Amino acid sequence: MGKVIVVFVGPAGSGKSTLVAAYSKWLREGGIPVYTVNLDPAVDRTPYEPDFDVRTIVDAREIARKYGLGPNGALVKSMEFIAENLEAILSKIASTDTDYVLVDTPGQMEVFLFRDLAWRLGEGLKKISEQSYAIFILDASVIKDPADYAFLLVMSTAVQLRLNLETAPVINKADLAPNIEFRGDIWRDYARLSRMLKESHTLYTDMLRDIMKVLLTYNKRVEVPRVSALKGEGMEELHRLILEMGCSCGDLS
Ligand code: GTP
Repeated sequence: MGKVIVVFVGPAGSGKSTLVAAYSKWLREGGIPVYTVNLDPAVDRTPYEPDFDVRTIVDAREIARKYGLGPNGALVKSMEFIAENLEAILSKIASTDTDYVLVDTPGQMEVFLFRDLAWRLGEGLKKISEQSYAIFILDASVIKDPADYAFLLVMSTAVQLRLNLETAPVINKADLAPNIEFRGDIWRDYARLSRMLKESHTLYTDMLRDIMKVLLTYNKRVEVPRVSALKGEGMEELHRLILEMGCSCGDLS
């Protein structure tokens, strides 16, 4: 088996770093070697010991001081430095001989996703391994009704379009919202989700229903695991999802 590379993307505070820590711990405990990469130049400390830390190349706080920038300006500038050094970062990842590489991305996902860097990273990772994927993480407390659930899938697809890597959604912080509906296979539950969206019948839910129909045409069947990175729960489900992303067994076609 070649390397499996997983990029964790999500809004600020959704739990990317905690999930990288929990999943890498789970893999190691199962005897699977893992290489962790921190691509967040602004993080204070990570809950895992990164094997490669982008802060050795660029530190957002130093950039802020050096260029007299605020936090957002420093992040944008940092992204430029990361983009300049992307080949060196990719060759570090390529030179590892671990089975898994987990990549933690910047807290402000928009500074990373809405620039060329995201696409170049995706392309570069795919050259290293065809088994390069992304996980889009959303905080469970944001998922309150069927429209939120549909939005999660739309956002995950948007991430896929930016990174050009097969992307699956994951709901984190399940410990904070244990009663989220639609656990499991969203595509199997699509009829129910669609029905519930139809009942709401607002412009927004009608639009989401139509978008979901299109997504269903193009997506493989994927599960939406609910995990708690903090408690280390749901790691088997996450792992199964990542393994499934590599096979065509979930193909809807
Ligand atoms: P940034 O990169 O700084 O945007 O954050 P992030 O997406 O990497 O999130 P991080 O892992 O730093 O977690 C943010 C906060 O959420 C921390 O206080 C974590 O302890 C907490 N957190 C992460 N995962 C969970 C979880 O599963 N449950 C609960 N209750 N809290 C969590």
